[in-house]
Amino acid sequence: MDDSHAIAPDQLVQRHARPGLSLLAVLHAIQDELGYVPPATVAPLARALNLSRAEVHGVITYYHHFRSEPAAPVTVQLCRAEACRSMGTEALAQHIEAHTGCRFDAEHQHGATVELESVYCLGQCALSPALMLNGTLHAKVTPQKFDAIFAAASKCVEVTA
Ligand code: FES
Repeated sequence: MDDSHAIAPDQLVQRHARPGLSLLAVLHAIQDELGYVPPATVAPLARALNLSRAEVHGVITYYHHFRSEPAAPVTVQLCRAEACRSMGTEALAQHIEAHTGCRFDAEHQHGATVELESVYCLGQCALSPALMLNGTLHAKVTPQKFDAIFAAASKCVEVTA
């Protein structure tokens, strides 16, 4: 997501921090809207939910799911848990790194067009190896299948950039 329609952090928190909602629920709502949780929302979240800023920051950084900056236009989340490992996910990971020229779980580079992330179980164990590409789940992924879906996703980025 881009920041061209940036909303003030206080307004963003007011919109989502409704009575009875937990911090996790509010963080999910913010990330669902923006694609990430802006660091500037930590203080207003703490005020709205009567928590310390350290508590809010701790939750955001503890859960790998939450991002503090926008994701790359092409984001691959490869499952590296047991069932997928037994079906060749590590060989697939090597192929993906060679094909994209990127490394899994590398420090996110602002402005990078591709991001590779390891995740642990996508709920598709019977259809492994599994991955998510820009939020879309793909199962029984082979190197050839990855190349095809990656090419399609990359093409969309070029067209919309
Ligand atoms: S172990 Fe990969 S989807 Fe469950």
